[in-house]
Amino acid sequence: MSIITNIEDLRVLAQQRVPRMFYDYADSGSWTESTYRANESDFQRIKLRQRVAINMDNRSTASTMVGQPVTMPVALAPIGLTGMQYADGEILAARAAKKFGVPFTLSTMSICSIEDVAAGTDNHPFWFQVYVIRDRGFMERLIERARAAHCSALVLTLDLQIMGQRHKDLKNGLSAPPKLTLPNILNMMTKPRWALGMLGTRRRGFGNVVGHVTGVDDMSSLTQWSAQQFDPTLNWNDVEWIKKLWGGKLILKGIQDPEDARLAVNAGADALIVSNHGGRQLDGAESSIRALPRIVEAVGKDIEIHMDGGVRSGQDVLKARALGARGVYIGRAFVYGLGALGETGVSKALEIIHKELDLTMAFCGRTDINAVDQSILLPVTY
Ligand code: GLV
Repeated sequence: MSIITNIEDLRVLAQQRVPRMFYDYADSGSWTESTYRANESDFQRIKLRQRVAINMDNRSTASTMVGQPVTMPVALAPIGLTGMQYADGEILAARAAKKFGVPFTLSTMSICSIEDVAAGTDNHPFWFQVYVIRDRGFMERLIERARAAHCSALVLTLDLQIMGQRHKDLKNGLSAPPKLTLPNILNMMTKPRWALGMLGTRRRGFGNVVGHVTGVDDMSSLTQWSAQQFDPTLNWNDVEWIKKLWGGKLILKGIQDPEDARLAVNAGADALIVSNHGGRQLDGAESSIRALPRIVEAVGKDIEIHMDGGVRSGQDVLKARALGARGVYIGRAFVYGLGALGETGVSKALEIIHKELDLTMAFCGRTDINAVDQSILLPVTY
């Protein structure tokens, strides 16, 4: 194996090692994937100001997200089916995040359960993501379970009441565990590392859900499960209900519009995430990094702002921070690391991003991430 120096190296390795249906699940956007692509490419259009002959000693990327210390302002995003990228993937990613000193966010649609991750990290606090589910009793129990596991923030997804269509998932017949069809078996036979890992774990279904919800016929199908269980009636009253139920730090995920950002402030959230769900929901929506400045202008004084979408390097983290995001989330960037090399790969992804962030900050003449603002950028024209 050649030396891994950037996230793209991890992506290439993950593509070789992870069965196609799971690699594709993470790697796709909805419909034409134009928003998915724009999330990444719009970062490239933002140019940095190079500064020289400034003392660059003693640099720090340490900051806070929702008041919690982070060694760099990067959290691991909630990603469904992470434990299908690599056996026990959520536990491994949470361990890597813990070691690095950044938050790990567990998805409701994870393979390892809330309790598995708590036990696998010696009860280190992590963040937990929820959708609004029709079965409110299940939601109450889920939030109770998150509390019992010492989760230190709840991330409420607002942009997935109904699911965007990702062509590859339909074509691949995505499910967890995978159905033992001939094409799936043939594909899995070419991924021996993955298969061995999966044979060695009992965690191969939706750990937070299986055995906890009634009224769903096929628990292995994310598409069917979400169509039957995610609540299309979700509105701001539900947000209020969840805020009361949870009582702790609440982060609202999926805001792209200043009007919604104002409603998020009114709902009393601690932070909002500027996000288009990694280009997986409304194809044709603006990239997150382009949407960010307008949200910052509208509500930046009233609420902490985070962003996700397209972050593949420490340079992207720095640019988002310069444009007013207190913190950013990486999704695919850590999932590639996990699929490639398990826990070591997630650690590697975090190290790569940290190094890029630290060096770029220095090249821009800053030594403290908290002193980074828009003045490190050239005027953004796109
Ligand atoms: C779930 O949130 C997904 O985007 O697949």
